[in-house]
Amino acid sequence: MSEVLNNMIERRTVYKFQSKEIPAHIIEEALEAARHAPCHKHTHPWKFYVLGPNTRKKVLPAVERLARKKANKPDVDESILERARTKILSPPALIAVTSLRNSEDAFREEEDYAASVCALHNAVLALWNHDIGCQWSTGGLTRDGEFYAALDIDSTEERIIGLLKAGYPESIPSVKKKAIDEMRFYLE
Ligand SMILES: Cc1cc2nc3c(=O)[nH]c(=O)nc-3n(C[C@H](O)[C@H](O)[C@H](O)COP(=O)(O)O)c2cc1C
Repeated sequence: MSEVLNNMIERRTVYKFQSKEIPAHIIEEALEAARHAPCHKHTHPWKFYVLGPNTRKKVLPAVERLARKKANKPDVDESILERARTKILSPPALIAVTSLRNSEDAFREEEDYAASVCALHNAVLALWNHDIGCQWSTGGLTRDGEFYAALDIDSTEERIIGLLKAGYPESIPSVKKKAIDEMRFYLE
């Protein structure tokens, strides 16, 4: 099997990371891969925001508020808040990926979303090529106004399509995929 094919097939979503840092040039290489994603009409609708320590600290109030809301009780255990904070502070890389909105053309917005997903996955595969795993998250934070504000993203212009957590895997989960016979149809 070619290395490229193997990279696609072996990639898994990773939930637990080692603390080892990701070299900056590997992040840049992943963003370079993202930049080359296919894109109808050449709109280049994606943006990648790599969250440094100060920005991560800035989003903690939103993280805590969402954790409290999820727990659905006013006096949440400190351990629950700590777990929520750790999910944002501990990944070696944390990248918010956005796609351009288009209030006048729903089809363009959909095509742009598709292109941005390609860009995001290009980055994920480029990282996996260096044995770095990602978790693509679309948790409540990615739809939270305070989170947008902390990142200085105008939610009328851009939509956060995912928060990528990345790092060297602590463990790699296995996952069952749909059988090829259930998804492949050759038509006459
Ligand atoms: C659009 C999208 C949103 C996702 N959102 C989340 C998420 O919010 N939390 C999470 O743990 N995983 C999320 N994932 C990862 C999937 O759960 C994961 O891809 C799936 O379990 C299949 O595993 P695999 O990526 O190893 O093939 C998301 C994946 C996609 C494509």
